[in-house]
Amino acid sequence: MTQPPDKFESLLHEKRVIHPTAETKSRTYIKDYEAAYKQSIADPEAFWDQAAKELEWFSPWSKVLEWNYPWAKWFVDATCNISYNCLDRHVKTWRKNKVAVIWVGEQGEERIFTYAELYRQVNRCANALKSLGLKKGDRVTIYLPKIPEQIVAMLACARIGVIHSVVYSGFSAPALQSRIQDSEARLVITADVGYDRSKVVNLKIVVDQAVANCPTVEKVVVVRRQQPGVPLSASKEIDWYEWLKNQKPTCEPEKLDAEAPLYILYTSGTTGKPKGVVHVHGGYMVGTYLTAKYVFDLHDDDIYFCVADPGWVTGHSYIVYGPLLNGATILTAEGKPDYPDPGRWWSIIEQYGVTVFYTTPTAIRLLMKYGEDWPKKYDLSSLRVLGSVGEPINPEAWEWFYHVTGSKYPIMDTWWQTETGMILITPLPSIMLKPGSATRPFLGIEADVVDREGNSVPANTGGFAVIKKPWPAMMRTIYKDPDRYKSYWNIIPNCYTAGDVCRKDEDGYMWFMGRADDVIKVAGNRIGTAEVESALVSHHSVAEAAVIGVPHKTAGEAIKAFVILKQGEKQSAELIKALMAQVEKELGKIAVPRAIDIVPSLPKTRSGKIMRRVLKAKELGQDPGDISTLEE
Ligand code: WTA
Repeated sequence: MTQPPDKFESLLHEKRVIHPTAETKSRTYIKDYEAAYKQSIADPEAFWDQAAKELEWFSPWSKVLEWNYPWAKWFVDATCNISYNCLDRHVKTWRKNKVAVIWVGEQGEERIFTYAELYRQVNRCANALKSLGLKKGDRVTIYLPKIPEQIVAMLACARIGVIHSVVYSGFSAPALQSRIQDSEARLVITADVGYDRSKVVNLKIVVDQAVANCPTVEKVVVVRRQQPGVPLSASKEIDWYEWLKNQKPTCEPEKLDAEAPLYILYTSGTTGKPKGVVHVHGGYMVGTYLTAKYVFDLHDDDIYFCVADPGWVTGHSYIVYGPLLNGATILTAEGKPDYPDPGRWWSIIEQYGVTVFYTTPTAIRLLMKYGEDWPKKYDLSSLRVLGSVGEPINPEAWEWFYHVTGSKYPIMDTWWQTETGMILITPLPSIMLKPGSATRPFLGIEADVVDREGNSVPANTGGFAVIKKPWPAMMRTIYKDPDRYKSYWNIIPNCYTAGDVCRKDEDGYMWFMGRADDVIKVAGNRIGTAEVESALVSHHSVAEAAVIGVPHKTAGEAIKAFVILKQGEKQSAELIKALMAQVEKELGKIAVPRAIDIVPSLPKTRSGKIMRRVLKAKELGQDPGDISTLEE
């Protein structure tokens, strides 16, 4: 983390509170948060031990937690399999014929999988993976649009102990390539195309380019959605449906150590190289199971709609694993919230009787722009619980979301990270809410706001958000980079530093204010400034680049770049366009700066480090704080 300023001023002083309705309270699992929380942190290991016993294990643990600061092992010596708990556990019961997944395509198509059908598909896919010689510990990259095969492929890998690395299908070839290379994947699973507001996005071409430089990749499996199907090379490429067709619908799940890796998920940090966050079967299973159950208050009659893409951690934990572990019915929809019109999600809620709706502040702000008439057109009375994730939700967007859905459904503003694996700071439906606050720590979680030395700061003073004790779904390491993992636990003594700035109010409610490091949250997507800078510098005209996040009305933050050109290069509108295209080519659309300024110099420390903080203050007309280390 780069040095953040010593003091943080929080400008938000929202006063409104909202109490749960009697209906919400009567149904929810945790009726008295204060009492449950107190009990859970009096003995967190006993708390997690109880939670773990709600799931099935092949053999029990000798110890709940082994904590060798900063290395954790949860459910020591136990064996389990997360796919068994997502599928077999339900298929043995009446849930066999319950709907597991409802998928709605961008063109309005619908595909429905019962637990039994999902089980068969996953088992076929697991057998198909085995037929290619894949085995426990191997890595598979999944680069798919938001289609059910993504879920099937993830669970199939998990079933046989293969580690999946899902890469968001909006990433470009170089970004995909570096992720495949880092994980040394033996197989890539992709599709011919994805759809974006009816535009066809050719994914196969991206994979072809990426894989050309990935010698570890032996085969590429392609889900062919278009007719006639794209041609496949006989030696290396396999059609998904052919691959599964003759496989048996049963496959014994691998009995895995609780600490066996489940997946690697690459996320942006403060350097140019994305980090491969590693999660494991046992603890991750317990953490995502319990948070999904209590935060969304999942019961068997729920229809749970999460708008995330499984390419991000929200999709991993709260489309796939957490809800399936609970035997829930999940709804997932391809496409954007305003396509074909801004009634898209509201109409899905009405049509399917969605009860739990988990979305993002960016999407809410986008829908807000289109006005209240859109949600008003639809019957949203099936809803019970709402959710928000990925970035701070401003009180105005919170209030709008609350109001247009009926002014009675609690909004769970869930704070967590790719690294944390599970929701850590969040309301439960039964607690008092404050619009704009992620409220309180989840059961079993001890969180605080501290200064750089680790001392708690007074109420309503900004500081660093930290977690004081290990939790079961925490990442276990950064793939091939244990030092980078350790750094999370070294920044502030004796705790996990999230990289977020936060304040706690007089009621202990937490108000997240954004990142303290060089990570930008654009529409909830996590983008490292260093990655964008290195993409810009890879253009032949650019000598140096610096990137900052600036406030944006819909996306929360937008990327702004400052570029120094090489000598002899001339500024022009074409050049700016070419620089934007360069970032799109290197990283993908989501990382393209909204504005690029050509500048003669950049603020730097005497040791030559760019002071983005100074650039940002200047851009926003704020006081840059301590600039004693500034050279130019
Ligand atoms: C931000 C997404 C405020 C935060 C699950 C965190 C939030 C980063 C919230 C992790 C929230 C996520 N309120 N900020 N409810 N949820 N964040 O890894 O800055 O993509 O550190 O995980 O998102 O982003 P990531």
